[in-house]
Amino acid sequence: MSILYRSDEARGQAWASYFADHAPDLEFRVWPDTGNLADVEYLIAWQAPADFIASLPGLKVLFSSGAGIDHVDLSAVPAHIPLVRMVEPGIIDGMVEYVSLAVLALHRDWFDYAAANAAHIWKPLEVPPASSRRIGVMGMGVLGQAVLGRLGTYGFQLRGWNRSLREMAGVESFAGADQLQPFLAGCDVLVCLLPLTPATCGILNQKTFAALPPGAALINVGRGPHLVEADLLEALDSGHLSRAILDVTDPEPLPAAHPFWAHSRVFVTPHVASMTQPETAAPILLENLRRHQRGEPLLDVVDRSRGY
Ligand code: GLV
Repeated sequence: MSILYRSDEARGQAWASYFADHAPDLEFRVWPDTGNLADVEYLIAWQAPADFIASLPGLKVLFSSGAGIDHVDLSAVPAHIPLVRMVEPGIIDGMVEYVSLAVLALHRDWFDYAAANAAHIWKPLEVPPASSRRIGVMGMGVLGQAVLGRLGTYGFQLRGWNRSLREMAGVESFAGADQLQPFLAGCDVLVCLLPLTPATCGILNQKTFAALPPGAALINVGRGPHLVEADLLEALDSGHLSRAILDVTDPEPLPAAHPFWAHSRVFVTPHVASMTQPETAAPILLENLRRHQRGEPLLDVVDRSRGY
């Protein structure tokens, strides 16, 4: 019984040692030491190219090593092989930290003070209460709900938008295309935590920005292709949007000459908002794998028709 890990190399050994300690019956292989590909039954992967999947005749389950699965070519994964998303406490905590940091930085004018520091200017700005700010999260899945839960502890007004209605205490919920505009109209900060699907690609566009109140800010922690870059630059330059914090871009890495780098009101981080942590992810993945071995339904299986 073999598992092959083909993802971030630096974290491969931590995965291997967890499996060595807790599942000695399983042979855990770390790429590029694949051994005989014919007896690989479980694959943990970030990139899973079609020809590589085709070289694994005994594959039973494909586990994504990240929360998103948009990088996997679903047409290359035979229909009988379930694809499982990564849902684990480390990835959730990382996202909660990053979005809290970004929202608080916007709320407390941190970027203005960074500029003032650089210019040696002492200039206090108003300090409005958190209760006067409306934060909206697009995508109320596991990550979106965890983010909203934490933001609520600061006292912000919260709203969430989801494909299908998700009720959450303390959050005004909106659902579907019909309620997108009313949702956006009440977002001083818009956080994108959507999965990337054909329906959400390009959703951060001119129409979306125009529906936000003047002075609103954007935080994109979804995927680069959610955003129409030219529309963001236009909304910033016209003064309608105040600022954008982008952890994801298209392409990644963002080329050095890209206008986002030089824009004084765009702040880019290199896709680090949240990462799978082997210490917390390995136990969850192993338990899911054991479920499969016992013939029980797997958790967090991707619905291929929805794309997440
Ligand atoms: C990171 O972007 C992930 O999908 O885990």
